[in-house]
Amino acid sequence: PTERRSLIMLFGATGDLATRKLYPAMLKLFEKGNIRDHFAVIGTSRYKFDDEKFREMVSKSVSKESTNKKQIADFVSHFYFVTHDVTDLEHYSVLKDKANELDKKYQLNGNRVFYISMAPNFFGTVAKNLKAQHLLSEGNGFNRLVIEKPFGRDFESAKQLNDDLSAAFEENQIFRIDHYLGKEMIQNIEAIRFGNTIFEALWNNRYIDNIQVTLAEKLGVEERAGYYDNSGALRDMVQNHIMQIVSLLAMEQPVAFKDTDIRAEKVKALRSLRVYNVAEASSNFVRGQYAAVGNDKEYREEDGVPKDSNTETFVAGKLMFDNYRWSGTPFYIRTGKKLADKFTRVDVVFKKPLVDIFAFPQSGSTPLNANVLTIFIEPNQGFSLMVNAKNSEQGFHTEPVQLQYLEDSKRTKETPQPYERLIHDVLKGDGTNFASWPEVANAWKFVDQIRRVWDIQQPMFPNYIPGSMGPVSADELLARDHREWVFKL
Ligand code: BG6
Repeated sequence: PTERRSLIMLFGATGDLATRKLYPAMLKLFEKGNIRDHFAVIGTSRYKFDDEKFREMVSKSVSKESTNKKQIADFVSHFYFVTHDVTDLEHYSVLKDKANELDKKYQLNGNRVFYISMAPNFFGTVAKNLKAQHLLSEGNGFNRLVIEKPFGRDFESAKQLNDDLSAAFEENQIFRIDHYLGKEMIQNIEAIRFGNTIFEALWNNRYIDNIQVTLAEKLGVEERAGYYDNSGALRDMVQNHIMQIVSLLAMEQPVAFKDTDIRAEKVKALRSLRVYNVAEASSNFVRGQYAAVGNDKEYREEDGVPKDSNTETFVAGKLMFDNYRWSGTPFYIRTGKKLADKFTRVDVVFKKPLVDIFAFPQSGSTPLNANVLTIFIEPNQGFSLMVNAKNSEQGFHTEPVQLQYLEDSKRTKETPQPYERLIHDVLKGDGTNFASWPEVANAWKFVDQIRRVWDIQQPMFPNYIPGSMGPVSADELLARDHREWVFKL
């Protein structure tokens, strides 16, 4: 593996994301030699930590990943802590001195990654101050900014944030995290589509009847009510993760497999997504909020949630692309908390043969099923294809059979986790699996229309039972089009 030299300056270093995901991911990169001798991490937050305390925290957060104590000690020796108030300009000069010192010590060639994992209202402030206080390296090294979600709460606020970031960093220096893009099977969508004639040749409205994307969660809002109640499923999951998945499914073939080409195609796809007017938004999107069951509280009774909250914990919708490839083929999407299980999948439903020659009344054959390509994203990784075949009994009857490939649990376990991939991509300077500004902007413009309608209409909440697949209206959305969800209980 190539060792990537860089200083990583992490804002929000004592936070939940850092300890749960970022340090374990960095340890993996260290184990594999992607970072080794020439890297250093400056962690910052308001905590009054010293290096030693910080290293203890990092060691603890990676202790589940490895039993190699010596390696962990070696790894954490690259970590330094600076207490930092992001609004206090003087604090930046301390950071700057530390950065310069570590750059020399570890021979980092002036390469800098600024990773902001804190409350979103600080994103712009930090980016601006980094530039104004001369923390960006001025030599040949790179400067890269990594931004966690959420990227705004509507188009206007996202644009404001983007303007703030752009004042300090170029678009190709900004890495907007969408951790779904770091998932193995999301990345596999492109391999499946563009690596197989049998799929790509049929990947259009002539052969595909509809595409379904499901991101189901079993847990409720847990301890995140403060954030979640201000967000809701539409902002939390649809605007980012689902829109990214949909654009990978809908885009044209990129000229080459590289970030600029892939982004260009995703943006084109998103630009042809039909932005709904009021009537269309209210008929093509439905929302839900979970009810109580057994000892589990309903959403409105959860800690930190207002008793009259109208925040949706479930969304289902129908998306239409007005372009030559997709005109007339809907993409149905759904996501929610407290559903039957935790899983993510994509079902591509092909059209049935135009003529069913087996369907004589006397033949006893059941009508032909549609071919369905299912991409299992999580927890299983793999895909399956439903085809019609003859069953082996006497007479001639057709039945659907499934061709299936699932990765075994060993391989699934060894698959790099999203943050390992994404941090590695940042160090390589590969923006393929990050959301570009035009993608984010178009996704907000679409989602804002739905939000506008929902903000003025009073929902009938709660409306779905935990352990189900959401409210009845989500099934009705497809039934109206004479379709149904491929995955149902
Ligand atoms: C996050 C959302 O982006 O994704 C959470 O804020 C959600 O609400 C999470 O639970 C789901 O991610 P994953 O990787 O567990 O499917």
